Amino acid sequence: MMAKQGEILIVDDEEAIRRLLRQKLSGEGYHCQEAGNAGQALEKLKAGTTELVILDIKMPGKPGTKLLPEIKASYPDTAVIMATAIADASIAINCMKQGAYDYITKPFNLDEVSLSVNRALEKRRLELENRDYQQHLEQRVREQADKIRASFFNAITALAYALEAKDVYTSGHSQRVTEVSVDIAKELGLPKESLEKIRLAGLVHDIGKIGIRESVLNKPGSLTVEEFKHVRLHSETGERILNPIAEDKEILSAVRHHHERYDGKGYPDGLKGEQIPQLARIIAVADTFDAMTSERPYRKAMSREAACAEIERCRGTQFDPEVADVFLEVWRLASKTA
Ligand SMILES: [Fe+2]
Repeated sequence: MMAKQGEILIVDDEEAIRRLLRQKLSGEGYHCQEAGNAGQALEKLKAGTTELVILDIKMPGKPGTKLLPEIKASYPDTAVIMATAIADASIAINCMKQGAYDYITKPFNLDEVSLSVNRALEKRRLELENRDYQQHLEQRVREQADKIRASFFNAITALAYALEAKDVYTSGHSQRVTEVSVDIAKELGLPKESLEKIRLAGLVHDIGKIGIRESVLNKPGSLTVEEFKHVRLHSETGERILNPIAEDKEILSAVRHHHERYDGKGYPDGLKGEQIPQLARIIAVADTFDAMTSERPYRKAMSREAACAEIERCRGTQFDPEVADVFLEVWRLASKTA
């Protein structure tokens, strides 16, 4: 007969009984070991390969009832079947409450013994499989979530590229705004989750510019009042474009409000101070700084020092003073190390 996988430990103080069980179960292909008392049993269990223990309730020294909880504590995946004289049935039932799978009564009906062993090992196998499946499932859910996050990031990046293809002056702008925004957010001690959000929002904060007429977008001279109004729509347009893919309200509001001013004179909603979402207040500083220091069709780039002075001058009016200070701090540190 093919050897079955099950490794069984027979714990009984009577050698004749051990031999009887061993003969029967070995004959069925199980690999059997014997222990005459609790100490020997614990010694054999140390190998960690025992799948099932047949445990005599009444033994000199430590009885099976005392050994059972020790086995369950140290080897929770090992199945235990209690062996008892009929008179001990209530004790055996108690043992099952403590985690024994079954109990068999003496004198043994060997067919019942083998049935019980089969059932216990099958039950154990299913339990282990089930646990394995659960663990696997959690892992798959985690992997799935990572994939979704990655494809969201890719979609956002594709949008940023789409804008750059249309407006050469935003080329590199979104990336730089993102880097500076993340630096400020880090310095402000924002949690990791917010850093990821500001990274995404930074990349697409100007995505609404896709909706700006090219004649206006690349106009070399200054804009008319009407053209200004048209350009200003880009923050609302951006929110609308992102709405179907970015369920995250913080990202959407960071895009919508990146041109609000701390003193309430910005657009589109004229929000003031802390009413403006923090991510938008951060992007506003990074965005303005990068705009000032980049060459535009209608003006030359400002020096970084001059741009910093401008940020400082506008702290508390255009910019959140705390964010402006942190930006200047980060900027000074960066230029020192550069
Ligand atoms: Fe913008």
